[in-house]
Amino acid sequence: MKVIIRDNAKQGSLWAAHYIAAKINEKAKVSDKPFVLGLCTGSTPIDTYAELIRMVKAGEVSFKNVVSFNMDEYVGLPVDHPESYHSFMHRYLFDQIDEPAENIHILDGNAPDTEAECAAYEEAIVKAGGFDLFLGGVGEDGHIAFNEPFSSLSSRTRVVTLTQDTREVNARFFGGDPEAVPAQALTVGVATVLSSKEVVILAFGSKKARALKDAIEGPMSHYCTLSGLQNHPAGTIVCDEASIGEVKVNSYRYFKAVEAAENR
Ligand code: GLP
Repeated sequence: MKVIIRDNAKQGSLWAAHYIAAKINEKAKVSDKPFVLGLCTGSTPIDTYAELIRMVKAGEVSFKNVVSFNMDEYVGLPVDHPESYHSFMHRYLFDQIDEPAENIHILDGNAPDTEAECAAYEEAIVKAGGFDLFLGGVGEDGHIAFNEPFSSLSSRTRVVTLTQDTREVNARFFGGDPEAVPAQALTVGVATVLSSKEVVILAFGSKKARALKDAIEGPMSHYCTLSGLQNHPAGTIVCDEASIGEVKVNSYRYFKAVEAAENR
């Protein structure tokens, strides 16, 4: 696991956007196959998306041959609800880049048969060629996508019940009322994320410090589903000084030293 530490969220977001764009451009040079990208929602990736939008507009990267799959979506929330992950993604990314509409995949939380929807999503990912890179965030309790504590680390796309903690944290988007946050969601599994050739996780701010400590230094455990990244050959966490604040001083120094050595 690599940990990229930047002074603040803005710098971490820029690092991530430039990294993703470079990966898209690298593949485009050697292959006609689409770049298959996993995407996330939340406040965390907004600045990364803003920089990707700037880069598309400046001609520095193109999403014309990118196929994307989003991580998750609430169950039962109308697609055009301002807080649906469909609305979020169009608002903060898709409406401002050149990714063809048919390349965009987001789970349908209103599907009549949610289990069939999840199975079809896994099939579509395989049909697209599997993920080149999965961009994710992390919940305060260490959850990745909507894989709440005690989700199996070998889980795949499925229907899940959200914890009270997550509904309380996300209540800020629903007028402050946890009961207004849908109780269930469709989410890719931990194993779906980890099936990607590469995984990049963004985590900024002191509220994510416990999650990062558990994921980086704790045992690999379903208690903190981001810890599954320990078993991935190419996992990177992009964080800031606040979110890395709970790890041991020696862990911090090690990650800084690795990055300095690689940039030498
Ligand atoms: C939700 C999403 C996660 C996201 C998390 C953190 O639970 N399902 O994918 O990582 O929120 O959100 P934020 O970036 O707003 O802290």
